[in-house]
Amino acid sequence: MVKPNKIKFPNMILSHIELYVQDVATMESFYTNKLGFVVTDRGNGKNGLVFLSRSPDEHHQIVLNPVDSANNMTSPVDHISFKVSNIKQLRSFYISLKSVSEIKLQTVSHGSTWSVYFRDPENNRFEIFTDTPWYVNQPCKFEVDFDLSDEKLIDFTHSKIKSMSGYTNASNWQESHNTLLTSISE
Ligand SMILES: [Fe+2]
Repeated sequence: MVKPNKIKFPNMILSHIELYVQDVATMESFYTNKLGFVVTDRGNGKNGLVFLSRSPDEHHQIVLNPVDSANNMTSPVDHISFKVSNIKQLRSFYISLKSVSEIKLQTVSHGSTWSVYFRDPENNRFEIFTDTPWYVNQPCKFEVDFDLSDEKLIDFTHSKIKSMSGYTNASNWQESHNTLLTSISE
């Protein structure tokens, strides 16, 4: 029996991991040529992020984050990310995490997501996100306020991204992603 006032947690699924890499060209070549990942987006310049997917359900499962040196790096992992199904579920984790005074929350949108970033008690960085109905070229990141109503959060996000490069409905992006993956699948 569930006790009153006890928080109920929604399901979440493992979505992606972002890795610091020193030789991004070698790493991209390995994941694409030897494991069949496709590049779904890439940032500008030599330190631009590279987004890789081998799943029709994910824009990225691995993100390569080029760094000039691994010196002083305590972990090769920038963050590990979990996906939930909707804003309501994301808010329930946000509210739960917000109650921990030691945890600093970063609430952002990647245009295609609403995301909460935080560090666990041993400093590992995590993201929990839900998809928006849209796609924009990645990387894209801006702060959002999760204390806004759903309607205001949706309006704010849409107004920020509607003129951004690559902006389209998520379903359009999904179609082209499926086509790309199908072209190199068994
Ligand atoms: Fe992420």
